[in-house]
Amino acid sequence: MTTPDPVSTTSAITRANCEQRDANDPLRDFRDDFLLPEGTIYLDGNSLGPRTKGAAERAQDVIADEWGTGLIGSWNSASWWDLPAKLGEKIAGIVGGGAGSTVVTDTTSINLFKAASAALKMQAEDSPDRRVILTQRENFPSDIYMLEGLAEQLGDGYKVRLVDDEEVTAGFPTTMSDEVALVVLTHVNYRTGRLFDMGTTTSAIHAGGAMVIWDLCHSAGALPIDLTGSGADMAIGCTYKFLNGGPGSPAFIWVAEGLRNRFSQPLSGWWSHARPFEMDPDYQPADGIRRYLTGTQGILSMSVAGLGLDIHSRVDMNLVRAKSLALSDLFIDLVDERLADHPVEVVTPREHAHRGSQVSIRHPEGFAVMSALIERGIIGDYREPEVLRFGLTPLYIGFTEVWDTVEALRDILDNHLWDTDAHKVRGAVT
Ligand SMILES: Cc1ncc(COP(=O)(O)O)c(C=O)c1O
Repeated sequence: MTTPDPVSTTSAITRANCEQRDANDPLRDFRDDFLLPEGTIYLDGNSLGPRTKGAAERAQDVIADEWGTGLIGSWNSASWWDLPAKLGEKIAGIVGGGAGSTVVTDTTSINLFKAASAALKMQAEDSPDRRVILTQRENFPSDIYMLEGLAEQLGDGYKVRLVDDEEVTAGFPTTMSDEVALVVLTHVNYRTGRLFDMGTTTSAIHAGGAMVIWDLCHSAGALPIDLTGSGADMAIGCTYKFLNGGPGSPAFIWVAEGLRNRFSQPLSGWWSHARPFEMDPDYQPADGIRRYLTGTQGILSMSVAGLGLDIHSRVDMNLVRAKSLALSDLFIDLVDERLADHPVEVVTPREHAHRGSQVSIRHPEGFAVMSALIERGIIGDYREPEVLRFGLTPLYIGFTEVWDTVEALRDILDNHLWDTDAHKVRGAVT
């Protein structure tokens, strides 16, 4: 990584001023809970959160003691069987879900399939003519694919309709109708960082007679969420981004209290049975949250994910939100001020009420520019078309790192350092 100028002479914002803000940051001690390689500025915690400090030790305990010594007895003695619910309690505390509302299990895509199919079944009982599922055109594609797969399985007129983000923010003035059974919305757009208001959007959907499932992949652990207060029906999300669960760590599913015992899903494996060890050939769903489960879970991954959830359970999410907005304000101001001579466009909304915890900018050579930044140890990522994403994670990112990132960008753009063959080669994952 190059060392930027210690103090800017042309800008109202200075590096020294950023250092001062870091020194006064009430969240600064949380940085010690994470392990990051020396000299790296990690702005990709919205994709894969960095390692928690105790992760290796926790994994070692599970392997050596719980698995190695406890063997199969650890399903009881180490509470492996209860991990989905135990971790679910921690998530519920972070997203305002209430006690006994959430389990950690499977992937976000699989949990969406379970939740959407349970919601459509409820609607088929109450309002059988409603067969349309609305979701954002700009939703993370896996959500759209899962919903289309489900609609195809159901046949019988079920279909998915895509809506623009503006239509969602406006409360569905042109797309809500008595055909709509379900709306599936990602709370923060993965590409642009646009945030949707959960309370008012949920009310608009309910007023139209539809149910709503929120995908919290880009908001759980990033900002305060009040699932119960918002009146939402169901929610899903992952633990490996802002919640630092580890690569491929299991996802979660939350269901509103009044719907819990009506939740009936097609992936009705034995973990969701009322009495799984009776080995009864007849299926009978468990009461409450266990009925959202399917089968045996990855205990190693779950155990490590617990550490990230413990950190987030200790933190005041209002402080996280305040710092996140301050970091993204700084990022946007610096882009406006320091990159004004370049074809760079901020695509993240400038209004706080519509902004999640990332800044995305567009540049015609976005992929190569990001590659040049990564070469310097500043890690963000790239999403088509032309979007450079920078995740802002207040527990381990500071104001000085934002300053250094924009200065590195300026150097790369001013001096065309992105314009090499090496920076144009794409790996399987961008
Ligand atoms: C908003 C959103 N939804 C769903 C997914 C898919 O998650 P999974 O691969 O765990 O199924 C992702 C993955 O990044 C995502 O960002």
